Amino acid sequence: MVRVLFKSTKPLRKVHRHLGYVVIVGMLLTGVYVLVSGLLAHLFGFPQFLLHRWAGYACAALVVLHLVLNRKRIRKYLLSLRRPAEAAAPSATPVLSAQPVPQVRPGLGRRALLVGALAGLGGFLAGRLLPGTRSPTEEDLGQQYHRWSMPGGSGLAGLRLDWGPRPPALKTYPQSPRVSLPAPHPPKVEMWQVIAARRSRREYLPGLLSLEDLSALLYAAQGVTEPRWGFRAAPSAGALYPIETYVAIHAVEGLEPGLYHYAVADHALEQIRLGDLRAPLVAAGIGQEMLGTAQVCFILTAVFQRTRWRYRERAYRYILLEAGHIGQNIYLAATGLGLGACAVGAFLDAQVNDLIGVDGSEEAVLYLLTVGKVAA
Ligand SMILES: Cc1cc2nc3c(=O)[nH]c(=O)nc-3n(C[C@H](O)[C@H](O)[C@H](O)COP(=O)(O)O)c2cc1C
Repeated sequence: MVRVLFKSTKPLRKVHRHLGYVVIVGMLLTGVYVLVSGLLAHLFGFPQFLLHRWAGYACAALVVLHLVLNRKRIRKYLLSLRRPAEAAAPSATPVLSAQPVPQVRPGLGRRALLVGALAGLGGFLAGRLLPGTRSPTEEDLGQQYHRWSMPGGSGLAGLRLDWGPRPPALKTYPQSPRVSLPAPHPPKVEMWQVIAARRSRREYLPGLLSLEDLSALLYAAQGVTEPRWGFRAAPSAGALYPIETYVAIHAVEGLEPGLYHYAVADHALEQIRLGDLRAPLVAAGIGQEMLGTAQVCFILTAVFQRTRWRYRERAYRYILLEAGHIGQNIYLAATGLGLGACAVGAFLDAQVNDLIGVDGSEEAVLYLLTVGKVAA
């Protein structure tokens, strides 16, 4: 059928030939994209990457099309494997003898494209896999900081540094409209079952998250559990609470999509700005689609000075540990509510900082967590 169609007229034969090249270029482009996005996903340790899956499907479809367009050649080749002597002799069958003799064309041929792609891949793999020049005893900055932040590790340098004054304990957006949250009514679930059931979930169902669920999640993250002293659900070194919680709302009952800040003391949300944040978040999350498909994305930042004025060189350690505590609380609360959560550590810091309007120095993003509806 395809052969009849393409053989029937000259212009259609031309289309057939061009289509062959278009398919090859398409295969190469999608194949290289699948490869590079797969390697990047592996490098950053996340299982999804922008359009990776769709590029894979497109590549597979193009491969099938390529096989269909070249089926005669493939058949001929397979026949030649079975009957090498016959295949070497000039063919007597009308179909095969009607084949136009392939012309050698100047310019970028299939082979050149293939060689180029393979050379690129080889270079990339060589760069990744060949041993570097770093000596095993050389410390990276993280190791240096770790040693420097041990008691006495900073020597006189730590004493000389000006660690600054104590800043305000809470951040508020006084000009922003406020949304009060319903009192949290956590579900009655078995803690050990929740711990055992917790998984990172990245595939979310469409639909709206209830405001009650959002309230429970925020309460678990940073809610005040001991009003007399202001102690919260997650522990904090010296009860200094350096972590601020922002929520990118994509789909929550009764809330317009946009960026909100959790006002801890009042268990309320401050509306920073309205708008659809799905695309900028996915872009800032290096293409991780779940940042756009989840109903909400928690954005944890640190106001470093809140801990630094007291704990000095050790502050940064405490702050990261605290973000981890809050993240785990969100994970467990989501699991207990029958929702799915996923931590996101791979993101472009500057883009997320810009998105939420923090300077990246005094206050900076540390951790993202998506939460959304999942299949049971
Ligand atoms: C600090 C940290 C950063 C993470 N960053 C990402 C991320 O960027 N993308 C992602 O898909 N998962 C991320 N994860 C989730 C891990 O991939 C996940 O926890 C791990 O595969 C174990 O699976 P589990 O959480 O279901 O037990 C992160 C987890 C942690 C603790």
